[in-house]
Amino acid sequence: PEARTIKLRALQDNLGTRVRVHGWIHRLRAQKGLVFIVLRDGTGFLQCLLSGDLANAYQTSTLTLESTVTLKGIVEKLPAGKQAPGGVELKVDYYEIIGLAPAGDDCFSNKIQEGADPSLLLDQRHLAIRGETLSAVLKVRASLLQAIRRVYDEEGVIEVTPPCMVQTQVEGGSTLFKLQYYGEEAYLTQSSQLYLETALPALGDVYCIQESFRAEKSHTRRHLSEYTHIEAELAFLTFEDLLSHIERVITKTVKYVVNDPVAGPLVKQLNPGFAAPELPFKRMEYVEALKWLNDHSIPNEEGQPFKFGDDIAEAAERKMTDTIGVPILLTRFPLEIKSFYMKRCADDPRVTESVDVLMPTVGEITGGSMRIDSLNELLEGFEREKLDKSAYYWFIDQRKYGTCPHGGYGLGTERILAWLCDRFTVKDCSLYPRFTGRCKP
Ligand code: 4AD
Ligand code: MG
Repeated sequence: PEARTIKLRALQDNLGTRVRVHGWIHRLRAQKGLVFIVLRDGTGFLQCLLSGDLANAYQTSTLTLESTVTLKGIVEKLPAGKQAPGGVELKVDYYEIIGLAPAGDDCFSNKIQEGADPSLLLDQRHLAIRGETLSAVLKVRASLLQAIRRVYDEEGVIEVTPPCMVQTQVEGGSTLFKLQYYGEEAYLTQSSQLYLETALPALGDVYCIQESFRAEKSHTRRHLSEYTHIEAELAFLTFEDLLSHIERVITKTVKYVVNDPVAGPLVKQLNPGFAAPELPFKRMEYVEALKWLNDHSIPNEEGQPFKFGDDIAEAAERKMTDTIGVPILLTRFPLEIKSFYMKRCADDPRVTESVDVLMPTVGEITGGSMRIDSLNELLEGFEREKLDKSAYYWFIDQRKYGTCPHGGYGLGTERILAWLCDRFTVKDCSLYPRFTGRCKP
C-alpha cells in the first residue's frame, strides 16, 4: 500500500501501518547485521530498524549522523522491556538519502563534542541546538510564550508591538546600545515600558513580547545583551492589585506549560524536582530582606552588613531566595536604587511601590512598579536622573492628557526558563544567546 507521510509526533496514531517519514539521523548503530537509526524530525524521535539487504548494504560513509533521509516502513509497538523512544520501532523496507552529511574528520560528532569548551559549542550553536537538551528547552520556551499569550488573553490584556529602535532610555544610560539612525543618535530599546504606558489610553491594558537590549559588561549566569522581554502595563489598579496580577499570571502560565502534552514531560525530564508555585507568593519588603540578610551574615557588595539604600546584588539575592526556597514578591525598594518613573509609597516617601519576583535558583525573574502619575513628580524624576526631558515629550504627555493610576512589569523569558528547566545559565535558554563578546552565529 502507498505509505502516508507523517510527522513523528503522530506515531502513536499510526501503529501497525506503513508510513513514510522524513528526518535527520540523530543516532546510528550497526550491530550483528542490523542497523539501528534514531530519526529526529523536530516533533519527535523514532527508532528505525534496517535489516537484511538494507543493512548489508550499509557502509559508514553512505549513512552518517545528521544526514537527512526519507524512510518507509511499518510502525510497530515494541514488547515491554525493549527500549526505544515512545516504545515503537519502524521496520524499514525502503530508504533514500536526501542530504548526506560528511563522514571522516568533518563528521558531525567531531564538531559537537560532549564536554567541549562552552565557547566552542557556542561557535557551533547552529549544530548544537539539534541536541536533545537544548531542543527540549527551546520547545518549553515555545510553550511558555504560547501559555503567557493565552493567560493575557484570559486577563483581557491585548498585545502590541512597540519599536526596538528608540531615542529614550528606561533603565539607566550605562547599558544602552547606541546606533546611528539616519544621522541621529538612537538606541536599541532596554524596555518597552514607556511605549506600553502610552498605549493604555488607546487600548486599555496591554502587553508585548519584544526583544530588549542591555550592554551588560559583566559575565553572569543571568544577563544577556539581548533577551525576550514580556512586559505588561495595566490601568486603574492599586499596587496590591498589581502584585496579585503578577503572581496570578506567573502561576497560571506555569500551570499551562507543565500540563501541556509536549512541554510538560520535557519540564519533568529537565527538572524532575520542579514543583509549580502556588498562590499566594511570599511577600517581603526590602527592609525585611536587609534584616534577613544581616541576620544570616550575608554581606553587601563591600563586604559590610546591609544598610538602607544598598542594592541587593545577584549573589546575596540568590542566597536568600535559595534558602527561603519559595517564590518571593520583594517590594518597596528605595527611590535612589530604582528608575525615575517609580511611584513613591504614600506612607513612606523614601521607598517606592516597586516589586521584584524572586525565584529559587535564579533570583529576580520580574521587575515592576506602579508609575508616577503626577506631571510635576515625573518632571522631578527627570531632574533627579539628569535626563533630557525633550526626548520624552510624548511620555510626559501621558501625564497631561488624562493621567491615571497605572503600573506594570517586565518578565525575563530566559530567566523564567532557567528556573523552569533548571538551567545553570540563561544562555541555555535562547536560540542564539547574545552576551559580552558573543554576536555569532
Ligand atoms: O528589572 P528590569 O530592568 O525592569 C524593566 O526593564 C522595567 N522597565 C520593566 C517594566 O516594568 N515594564 O527588567 C525586567 C526583567 C528582569 O526582572 C529580568 O527578568 C529581565 O527583565 N532582565 C534580563 N534578562 C536577561 N538579561 C538581562 N540583561 C536582563 N535584564 C533584565
Ligand atoms: Mg530589575
